[in-house]
Order: sequence, then structure tokens, then C-alpha cells
Amino acid sequence: MRIGMLTSGGDCPGLNAVIRATVRVVERRHGGQVVGFKDAWRGVLEDDWVPLDVEACRGILPRGGTILGTSRIQPYQYDDGVDLVKAAVERHQLDGFVVVGGNGSLSCARDLGRDGVNCIGVPKTIDNDIGATEMTFGFDTAVHVATEAIDRLHTTAESHDRIIVVEVMGRDVGHIAVRAGIAGGATMTLVPEFPFDPGEVCARLAARHEGHDYASIVVVAEGASAVPGSMPEPDYEVDQFGHRRLGGIGNALAAEIEGRTGIETRVTTLGHIQRGGTPTAFDRVLATRYGVAAADAAADGAWGSMVALQGDQVVRVPVADAVDRLKTVDPALYHDVAEPFFAPWPGSADPAS
Ligand code: F6P
Repeated sequence: MRIGMLTSGGDCPGLNAVIRATVRVVERRHGGQVVGFKDAWRGVLEDDWVPLDVEACRGILPRGGTILGTSRIQPYQYDDGVDLVKAAVERHQLDGFVVVGGNGSLSCARDLGRDGVNCIGVPKTIDNDIGATEMTFGFDTAVHVATEAIDRLHTTAESHDRIIVVEVMGRDVGHIAVRAGIAGGATMTLVPEFPFDPGEVCARLAARHEGHDYASIVVVAEGASAVPGSMPEPDYEVDQFGHRRLGGIGNALAAEIEGRTGIETRVTTLGHIQRGGTPTAFDRVLATRYGVAAADAAADGAWGSMVALQGDQVVRVPVADAVDRLKTVDPALYHDVAEPFFAPWPGSADPAS
């Protein structure tokens, strides 16, 4: 068995753990070899690769980033892209690819499958927005980093009786925001799934601070937005792949809060800190389980599948099922678990909660 392996899209903690696990199991359990392509599909298109064996993977388990490099380049961006991928399959005598990626990369793996290129998907992203799996690896680390940051921001906010707005990543979903908000005891958490009314946010914060030396932490997901027309929103640029480059809602919201309430408000944008560095133990284990499962799936010829976590079992699902819908925040988690801890409406019995 010969497998091509690539890590694609934005990096995330645990990529190296997947590589290490797939290589180990392909080599030692199935007697095969792994060819590692550099910078995702760029390496396949340009024949830039490295041989991957157990020796090459020593010491990488706790390392953030990816030893293979990554990019958002996809074969379908080029007229001859699919032919070049097929040529790489021939040249390296590959049975297929293990594609470690997020929604965009897995959609590409699905399309390549339809065009006759064997792929197995491994769900990667700090955003946790991939369908058909309860968890992507990298998400736990991002939540952990965001929670630690919120803990730290609490103490400085409390010393100054300030509001601090913390902007977290997550693209078009609020999984990181909701989890970190609950874990960090946020005063409010705003997510893309539920557009917010800045008037309500400010009224609640003003009521909480009225007559009290309190601090507040407002967690806002980078993809969150206010109800249309209620406040100025950031102008988002579009990157070379047509994706909105998010970031800025935290600053816009902080200006709105300070302007409307008069309470001193600061902003912290966590950005790529959430993606860098060593994975948590949970992500190392999940990434290792996914890497092992991907190698076994390749050995079984289960092309077109993605490894997924369902009820603490790693299973195979059709990759098409995973990318057909964006996995959004469970309304019950937001409304029933996070919201009771938000600053309450003015006039409520306990305005300080
Ligand atoms: O998808 C992962 C992610 O970190 C998003 O949360 C974020 O919007 C985006 O990637 C940032 O991408 P880039 O690395 O191109 O700035």
C-alpha cells in the first residue's frame, strides 16, 4: 500500500499527531509507505514531496503546526489540476490520499473522489464546524487557549472595573465562543448563529455595572454580527480564495459599548494564538485516533470516507455527508447553558449576575 498524505487549509494543533499516527500504522500494521506532499495540494501539483516513515515522525507528537506545511491551494483552481493529481498518483504508484483538512479541503476530496481519485478525509479545524463528526481535532486546544485568556482578562478587568471584549476565531460558527464563554464565565457571548442587538447588549451591561464595581467579559465570535442596521460593522476583505477575512467585530462592538454606556471598554483579539502551539492531551489523543483510523480505512479501501467521532467511537462516514452542511452551535447549549450566566435585563432581581 502506498498513500499520499497532505495537510490542507489553515493549520491547527494536532496535525503532526495525525501524520505520525497514519505513518506508524501504514508502515507497521499494513506494511505500506507514505509519501508526504508539501503545502497541501501545491506539493501534489508541483511534485514537491518527502518520504514519511516512523523515523521521520519522531518527536512531532506535541509540536504545533504541520511538518508538511499547508496552503489553501486546491486542484480545481487550475484547468489541468485534476490531471496533475492523477499524474502524481501514477508517478508515485499511490493507492490514494489521506487528506487532513477542513470544509474546503474535504469538499475537494469529495469532488476528487467523483473524478476518480481515491481520498480519505480527516476532519481538522479549530472551528469545529464540520458535519457528521462530534469533534474536529484542534478545537479543544483553541477552546483551552481562549478560556485561559478569558481567565487572565477577568483579573485585569476586575482591577479596573472595565468591560473587556474578547474576539475569538471560529469563522461562521460560534463553537469556540460558546465553549470558552461557558468555561471562562463570560458576562455575554455573541455568536454568528444568533445576530445580536447592540441596544440589548449595552442595556444589560449598563444595568450590571450600575452602582457596582464590576467587570464584564464579553466574548464575541469573529463571525458574529449585529442585527442589520443596528451598528457600524467592519468591512471585511476577501482573500485570494474568495473567503471573507474575518476579524474586527470585537473593535466595532467595544466602540459601540463604550459609546452607548460610557463604561471604559477594552478589546483583546486572540487571533492565531488559538491555532498555534502544542495540542492539548485531548487533541493529541483524538488526532492519533483519527490518524490510525485513516490508515486502516485506506488499507480497507474505504475510499470516499471520512473518519469521524460519534459517541466516543471513531467511525467512517461518507465525506460528502460531512461537508454538505455546516455544523452550527446547538441552540440548547447557547440558550439553556450559556445564557443564564449573561448579564440580565435592567430591572431584573439580580442585575449583578
Ligand atoms: O478556519 C480556521 C481559522 O483559524 C478561522 O477560525 C479563521 O477565520 C481563519 O482560519 C483565519 O485564516 P487565516 O489563517 O488565513 O488568517
